[in-house]
Order: sequence, then C-alpha cells, then structure tokens
Amino acid sequence: MGGDQASQRAAELRRAIAEADHRYYILDQPTLSDAEYDELMRELRALEADDPSLITPDSPTQRVGVVAQSGFAEVEHLQPMLSLANARNEAEFDAWAERVARLIGDEPYQLVTEPKVDGLAISLVYEDGVFARGATRGNGVIGEDVTANLRTVRAIPLRLAGKAAPAVVEVRGEVYLPLEGFARVNEEQIAAGAKPFMNPRNSAAGSLRQKNPAVTAKRPLRIWAYGIGHSQGLELETHWDALAWLRDQGFPVSPDAELHDEPASALAFCRAFEERRASLTYDVDGVVVKVSSLEQQRRLGSVGRDPRWAVAFKFAPTTAITKLEKIGLNVGRTGALNPYAILEPVVVGGVTVSLATLHNEDDIRRKDIREGDRVIIQRAGDVIPQVVGPAPEQDGRRKRPWRMPDRCPVCSTPVVRGEGEARHYCPNRGCPSRGYEGLKHFVSRGAMDMDGVGEKLVARLVELGLVSQPQDFYKLTVDELLPLDGFQQTSADNVIRSIEKSKSRPFDRVLFALGIPHVGGITAELLAGAFGSMDALRGATTEQIAEVEGIGPVIAETVSAWFLDDEHAAIVDALAAAGLTMAGPKRAATASPSGPLAGKTFVVTGTLEGFTRDSIGEHLTGLGAKVTGSVSASTDYVLAGEGGGSKRSKAEELGVPVIDLAELERLAAGTA
Ligand code: IVH
Repeated sequence: MGGDQASQRAAELRRAIAEADHRYYILDQPTLSDAEYDELMRELRALEADDPSLITPDSPTQRVGVVAQSGFAEVEHLQPMLSLANARNEAEFDAWAERVARLIGDEPYQLVTEPKVDGLAISLVYEDGVFARGATRGNGVIGEDVTANLRTVRAIPLRLAGKAAPAVVEVRGEVYLPLEGFARVNEEQIAAGAKPFMNPRNSAAGSLRQKNPAVTAKRPLRIWAYGIGHSQGLELETHWDALAWLRDQGFPVSPDAELHDEPASALAFCRAFEERRASLTYDVDGVVVKVSSLEQQRRLGSVGRDPRWAVAFKFAPTTAITKLEKIGLNVGRTGALNPYAILEPVVVGGVTVSLATLHNEDDIRRKDIREGDRVIIQRAGDVIPQVVGPAPEQDGRRKRPWRMPDRCPVCSTPVVRGEGEARHYCPNRGCPSRGYEGLKHFVSRGAMDMDGVGEKLVARLVELGLVSQPQDFYKLTVDELLPLDGFQQTSADNVIRSIEKSKSRPFDRVLFALGIPHVGGITAELLAGAFGSMDALRGATTEQIAEVEGIGPVIAETVSAWFLDDEHAAIVDALAAAGLTMAGPKRAATASPSGPLAGKTFVVTGTLEGFTRDSIGEHLTGLGAKVTGSVSASTDYVLAGEGGGSKRSKAEELGVPVIDLAELERLAAGTA
C-alpha cells in the first residue's frame, strides 16, 4: 500500500472505530461484533507499525499509553470547577428557587434537571477538536493530569464529532462505574487480596487514579458529560443548548435531562427520579437543577465555590456499613439452602434494612464475608439489599470463614450439593421446612391462587396435621376451620369456596403449583403447551421433554425423574381425583417472527409490576421474543422484577444482561 493509500485507510479505520465506540458506549446499539471490531483495530495497528508517522493523537490505538513515571502532574483548569450547594428537602429547594427569582428580577427563567451521578468530576480539554488533556477536579482550581487514563475510557471521544470544532473547549462530566462494574471490581480486589471499595464513587476514583493506564483500561468506566467550562469559538445561549451540543459532539449525555418552565416542575422531576433510582444501572445521589440561560447564570454568579444558578437536590445514600450479626439459612420448597445476612439494622436508600441476600456458599467465600464483620450493604438497582463485601476497616479479629453446615438446620439430614451447582440442598423430602414451603407455593398467587389461604393459615393447618400434602387442602371442611383462631362462619365459608374455586385454574398453573424443581411459571407454560395433558407429560421420555423449545436437558431430566417418583405420582393422582384441571390446549411456543425482539431469547424472573407470569410471557412472545425457563449462554436478556435471585446471579455469572421493564420498553421501542 502506498503512503497516501495507507494514510487514507488509517483515517477510515479511525473513523470506523470511533463510530463503533460511539454506537456501543453512547447509543447502546452496537453494530459490529467484537471480532469485527478487533479486526479493524488489528489492521490499524499493523498500518501504524509499518509507518509510525500515521499515528495521530486521536488514534484509538493510543487509548492505552505508558505507565506514568512519577505521580500525576498538576494542571490548572482554564476555568475553575465549581461545586454545588445542597437542597436536602423541598423547603430548601423552594428557598433556592425563590432566591433565583428574586435575583434575576421578575423575568421568566427555565431550569434543567439532570441526574447527579455518583462518580468523579473530570475536565476534558479539546484543542481544535482533538482531546488534548484530561484532569480530575482537585481543589477546583488545580487538578491532577489523568489524560493517559482518561484516554482508555472508550466512551470519551478522542475527536469531537461535529464539523467546525471550536479552538478550545473544556468539557465537564462525571466518570463513574456502573453498579455491575462496581461489584465486579470489588470481587477482583478481594481475589487479589486488596481492600474492596466502599462505593461506586470510590471505585471510580481508584480506577482513574491508577499509575498504569492498562489497569484503568480494564475497569468498565463510563462518563456522563454535563457541562462546558472555558471555550473559544463556541457561541451558546443556554445550558440546554450546551447539552445538545455535547450530544452532537459524540459525548454521552444523560437521556434523563429535562427542561422545565417552572420550579415546581423541576421539583416534581426530582421526586419522580428518586422513585426510579432503584431501577438504574448506576448510582445517583440526587438531581442537579440548573438555570438554563447562560446570561442569567452570569448575573447570578457564585458564593464562594457554589454557583447560585445551580443546586443539588440530594437523595439518601444507597450504600451503608453495618455489622453482619449472623448468617442465617432458609430451606426452600425444593430443599435449596439459601443463606441470608442478619444485620444490625441500618438505613440504606431511605429504608431500614436488617436482612440481605447472600447467594450461596461460593459467593460468600468469594466476597470473603464473615459473621461478625462490618459489611457494605447496597440497596440500588435492585430492591433486595445486597451484601457487597466486608468493609475496608474491621474492628478486632475476624471470625473464621463461614461454612455451609453439614446438616439441614431444620431436620438435620446431611445436606448435598447438586452436581455442577452452587447450591446446597436438604435431600429429605419429608423435611418440615420443605413441606411447608411447598404448600405455601402450592396455594400462592401464581399457582393455585387460593384467596384467603395465607402463610399463617398454612402453618396452622400443618401444625394441626390437617394438611401435609397439597391434595389435603381439597378435603378441608368448614367444620374443621371453625375452631381455628379468627374464623367465623362467613370467613370459613369463604376459604372453602376459594379452595374449591382453585380447581378451575388452568393446567399450566397446576403444573407450576406442583413445585417441580426448575419448573417456574414460564417452563410450566411451555410444558403444558407442548404436551397438552398431565398424562402425556408423565408418559414422555427425557428426550421428548428436551425437544420442547426452551427446555434444556437439565430441566428435562429433573421433570421426568420427578414424575417417576411414587410419592409424586400419588400426589398427582390425588389432585386429579380432587378435580383439578389436568389438561389444556396444546400450543406451539411460537414467537412472532416480525416483532421488534424477533430472534432474542428471554428468561423472566421475579415479580414484574402489572404482569402475571402468563401475561409477561405473552407480552414478550407478542414482541417476537422467545421465552425460556433457564438462563444459559444463549439467553440474550434476563428480564428481572422484584425478587429473582438465582437466575439473576446466573445471568451475572454468564454476562447476560439483566434488564427491567423500563429497559424492555426501550428495547421494544428501539430507543435502547
Ligand atoms: S454541575 C456548578 N452536573 O456533583 C456546576 N455536577 O457537588 C458544578 N455531579 O463535583 C457541577 N452529576 O462531580 C453537575 N449533572 C451534573 C452532575 C454533577 C454529578 C457532581 C460533580 C460535582 C458534584 C457537585
């Protein structure tokens, strides 16, 4: 290739890679596969190796530079980086808005609201459109030069995308680690024998202030651009226009930024955004509210470091440190032993938390969580609080690592570990805890849905020996209920009537209610649709079951083994005799081939607001997606609602994206 040709090709490659980065990191709509992307990088590297004069400062090959010799150099910001005054409640916000109104006279003003991401403020200087220098905030006037590390953040454009680039522009933004990245970095810290980070902000700061840019490059850092400092050759009138300009230049700008004509509307945004906080994939500690007009901003000026034209509406913190009193163990209906953390109560994200999930023994080991530890609790991106890991500082000597007990805590049967599984099980089918959990599952909303038969009543019926197997519910009489606490004629009549009514639940619900391991609502639906009746399913071989779309070999094996068990067969027969629905329409699990989610495979877990098990499945297939019951490497997305523990952790293990309903809507609308 001649010199001209080579330099043209290198420019083409730089553009193609920048475009791919933009689509991946900013638009979240990747167009190249990893292999294709790597191939472009490889070609560019080869060209540059042949002729080093082709290397430009904005070349993507220059993202990972060399290790800094000494500490970071100091740099003076072209314009000071200000901080923000806080509004901790509505009254403080109102007081701020009133002062703004008073100071700018009676003229109208607009406000911009933006999520306040919890990360680290940085400043990026672009000279003639090329990224020249990046620095931390430091003391606001002088920061640390972290250019080499910022170059590794692929969401930061190395060249502005717009035509006519200004001579100089300072872009301000927040570098942060998404929650998932935070958890991953902490696991790596612990595995490497280093201290875990307290919160996403600390881990972002720690990642950015690395001596070796190659270390920073491995941290999944992201950025939101939220403002402009000094500039030359850039005429903008409002902050709102500045955000649009930043977007046009290829920066990630929060899609949640909004423009308001009234303070009341800005305040409503703050409140509404706090509601959404738990569903975000990154940590926010509030909303920043800014006067949009740059001319009004100048007139308002600052008091010390705090501009009068902006305020941070703060939320309660989502991480906290507390003592892990004890690790408890709960026996599920399938016999699965689920460890959980019993905590000294602590306020996280505005609610008091005293219990948190711990997935399994391996996870506890990996995170090195021990009884008596001071632990980091996080309640964000998920409603169930999580134990992130031990706090960096522990008081006194730590206890020994926790071990799964050898025997079931309820019935003392030696526990077993499923082959290739992280979970331990109590194998005793007669374990009182398992029986009770199984009965609770049987009557639950997604299963037989027996109105008026709650946990307490089930516990009481088991205690009195009136119910020990599912079919026993259908033998209960009003006379047996009447002597129980709180029962009168009407309430007893109602319970018996609702038990009777449950007989008409469709076949797939009955199948789900049986509590066959691995058979959740969706799997039950797939099996019911494919076989059409309990008898057909019972008579099917493992191979025939595995042929059903969406059913893997493990589920198929478990299902056929379950039906072969005499005790299970007796339960099914008794339920059939009691008059439950044992057949339903056969249907092919067909996805609409033309929907927006065509070709995508989903697994659903947890409770999704506004949907039942059935209706979410229908909704997804209506959109063209295929729904399966268990998470594997071929799953495209896990749609998770409240709850949903093991599928969520399996997804995280396999790197399958876990999304919520809001994200599903965006995917379906093509705006993700
Ligand atoms: S504006 C005067 N906008 O919050 C404007 N800051 O205490 C100063 N932050 O250190 C910053 N998201 O790191 C602004 N959308 C946003 C922000 C934001 C997060 C951080 C920023 C700063 C701190 C202010």
